[in-house]
Amino acid sequence: MGNKTSSIKDLTIVVIGASGDLSLRKIFPAFYALFQKKLLPERFQIIGFSRTEMNDDIFRNKVKTFIAKENIPLSEMDEFLKKCFYCRGKYDAFQDYERMGDLIRKLEEGHLSNKIYYLAIPPFLFLPVSNALAHSNLIHTQEEKGVWTRVVVEKPFGRDRESSDELTAGLQKVFREEQVYRIDHYLAKEVIQNLMILRFANLILEPLWNRQYIQNVRISWMEDIGIEGRGGYFDEYGIIRDVMQNHLLQILALVGMEQPIRLEADYIRDEKVKVLRCIPPVTLSQLVVGQYGPGILQCKKCEMKHGYRDEEGVPKDSITPTYAAVSLFIKNRRWDGVPFLIRAGKGLSKRTTEIKIQFREVPGNIFAETAPQLTPNELLIQVQPDAMIALKIVNKIPGLSLVLGESNLDLSYESAFESRVPDAYELLLLDVIRGDKSLFIRSDELESAWDIFSPVLLELEKKRIQPVIYPFGSEGPYTADLLASKYGTAW
Ligand SMILES: NC(=O)c1ccc[n+]([C@@H]2O[C@H](COP(=O)([O-])OP(=O)(O)OC[C@H]3O[C@@H](n4cnc5c(N)ncnc54)[C@H](OP(=O)(O)O)[C@@H]3O)[C@@H](O)[C@H]2O)c1
Repeated sequence: MGNKTSSIKDLTIVVIGASGDLSLRKIFPAFYALFQKKLLPERFQIIGFSRTEMNDDIFRNKVKTFIAKENIPLSEMDEFLKKCFYCRGKYDAFQDYERMGDLIRKLEEGHLSNKIYYLAIPPFLFLPVSNALAHSNLIHTQEEKGVWTRVVVEKPFGRDRESSDELTAGLQKVFREEQVYRIDHYLAKEVIQNLMILRFANLILEPLWNRQYIQNVRISWMEDIGIEGRGGYFDEYGIIRDVMQNHLLQILALVGMEQPIRLEADYIRDEKVKVLRCIPPVTLSQLVVGQYGPGILQCKKCEMKHGYRDEEGVPKDSITPTYAAVSLFIKNRRWDGVPFLIRAGKGLSKRTTEIKIQFREVPGNIFAETAPQLTPNELLIQVQPDAMIALKIVNKIPGLSLVLGESNLDLSYESAFESRVPDAYELLLLDVIRGDKSLFIRSDELESAWDIFSPVLLELEKKRIQPVIYPFGSEGPYTADLLASKYGTAW
């Protein structure tokens, strides 16, 4: 664990791209939640930087609309908003960063503050912004008088291994690796954090957590919305880069890794890297790609939805996948031969993220007369829409005759834990302040994750592999079901 926030007295947070969706919807509300919980240092200020014409008042009003909820004492909100400032500037204009430097020094009132730069901007701006920060002397590469500088970078970290390496090398010209916090907000979701506790703080699962008892692992990420106006961004990246290579591989690593030596960031990340390095690169035969066409979303007033190619900013002949399913194998003693099936898709019938661990069939079924096929046990770990863990078991259905049926031993977070589940960004930002990197991606993790998908991504594009079109609001392409059935299972 990193430092406590109480030992940090002065902090300046600069959100670059402050006018954007992520900044207003996630970052400022998360800082406000930390402020309410008295987890921000004694003296802090948050400066928003972007090109949009705004002054402090307009910016504060914008922030206010995103944090204002019922039951918030107005005085508390005002106290927070008074700490928010706006600096208008162009991302590559050194003189604008120099003006920001003047503002920071004025707000510091003689106390040199720790600095967090949050890059909430499109990825092509990461390097120009980092270089401009360095050029304007806004980065302390070494701690001076115990004062540090950290930078937070959002995904996507490149489009493939090569561009990711270039980005890493570019950032390392300006920041040391210890200063870089690469966010994958899935890692901070309660249920995902709980994976390590579930596995390593309980005795009963770990002896079964291997190829001898587990038949397959299925990880699904599904959304019932399309690309929601982000056509330009999405068409360049697609679902494999947007979701699979990062969120889903991180989840897989937590399911598959060995127990870390201790609960320290580098030990945890060492184990994740090891397991990722045991996965050979994906080939086309392991992969299914799809793209949503027009269709009807049943649950939302039977609305007719556009197909992907009719979305704004998407070329009519786009082959970018909005759905992908893949079978991965971890070539080590624990997992050899166990398929890890992962799928991600947009424009589907429901919104869910879940992990299913399916155990093998019980050998020597003595109930064969009434139940010729015993349903295998399955552990469900659901991240959203509702956080829950459920273990499917076979049970006697109460009655005078012997009838077996499936039941769930389940733990719903909502009913079991009364406290509000914090947003992932709250914990991540607190960890940046504390200097705890357990939930952030190290550069070698990133490299290993790209090594798994880069070759097949290149091949998809080079050969212009056409995705299978599936109707919006459906379960996805039929080919994904065929992939699962190849391994004797269904999603
Ligand atoms: N939104 C999310 O939920 C989410 C989730 C995961 C990751 N991310 C990542 O987080 C970062 C920020 O996301 P976002 O959704 O907030 O992005 P965004 O709204 O598209 O962009 C943020 C700000 O950057 C500036 N900007 C946008 N496009 C630009 C361009 N072509 N040239 C120069 N400036 C431009 C705009 O500010 P000005 O015009 O005022 O300068 C904009 O308000 C991205 O890297 C994104 O991939 C976002």
